[in-house]
Amino acid sequence: MRMPDEIEIDRPDDWHLHLRDGAAMTDIVHLSARQFARAIIMPNLTSPVVTTEQAIEYRARILAALPPDSDFTPLMTLYLTDRTTPEEISRAHSSGAIAACKLYPAGATTNSDSGVTDIARLSPVLEAMQRADLPLLVHGEVTDPEVDIFDREQRFIEARLQPMVAEFPGLRIVFEHVTTAEAVDFVREGPDTLAATVTAHHLLFNRNAILAGGIRPHYYCLPVLKRERHRQTLLKAATSGHPRFFLGTDSAPHSLGDKQTACGCAGVFSAHAALECYAQAFEEAGELDRLEGFASHHGADFYRLPRNARKVRLRRESWQVPAQYPFGDGRLVPLGAGESMRWRLID
Ligand code: NCD
Ligand code: ZN
Repeated sequence: MRMPDEIEIDRPDDWHLHLRDGAAMTDIVHLSARQFARAIIMPNLTSPVVTTEQAIEYRARILAALPPDSDFTPLMTLYLTDRTTPEEISRAHSSGAIAACKLYPAGATTNSDSGVTDIARLSPVLEAMQRADLPLLVHGEVTDPEVDIFDREQRFIEARLQPMVAEFPGLRIVFEHVTTAEAVDFVREGPDTLAATVTAHHLLFNRNAILAGGIRPHYYCLPVLKRERHRQTLLKAATSGHPRFFLGTDSAPHSLGDKQTACGCAGVFSAHAALECYAQAFEEAGELDRLEGFASHHGADFYRLPRNARKVRLRRESWQVPAQYPFGDGRLVPLGAGESMRWRLID
């Protein structure tokens, strides 16, 4: 079958994005704004975004950092802690400024030290979110140091997520950046209130990318890349047309110095070529015509937001990913640095 040389899809959104803050944010936010109409902005700043007021201030800093002609809309989230109150959820809801709340199990990933230590004690907050119809976004990994890092997502499902879904049947939950066949099955068999985001790097790479033939820190992220069997299952789910799987890049910039060191940070930066990477994965699966649903429709529908007007075009045209981008005081190594891409987003 002949593949098209150009595709046009409704403007997509990124349902999981890390923008950081300050000069570093200013250096990268335009890359996401070029690709996406809206994005769910993760609240794990060095000092996390825990109140509605802080989220509104953060949103103002993002808007101020955008190129003047940009209409990019940041959708703000709150970071849940042991001290989050149902009152804060009411404030978030009535402000109209908060799109969702993020649950990081304490210690699960970058800047998650203030995260939740005991999910059972979060019940009054989750109840308030269910009442306010505010979606819960979950980093789904257990943090028990005894549990093998490749099993942490799978263990989270039985130990934490399954009980949460059962206890709060009206709460919309997004299982963020799913990486395993077990997570895909759980979402597929779950209720309509349960959805998942899938990153481009988990669709394109398995764990050999980090470890085979040398250690490659720029492929290290959390949840960590898994074996090929899991990548194949993710690819099948993302390209199946199932409405509860949608695009979330989890683009997570760290400076070169923070990545290439004895104890490097977790995070893959993909905002510079996000749609191109997804297009490559969908093409590899022979399902390019399913890209639009995954990238532009399913997320908006789940969040109950209008689908975007306008279109974007991708052309089959090779271009070279820069080796680095400026990033505040440092530099940033993007996914596929120096390599050539098959698809190009046309401005
Ligand atoms: C994210 C980050 O750097 O903020 N890192 C990552 O590896 N994905 C945090 C997260 O989403 O886990
Ligand atoms: Zn993330």
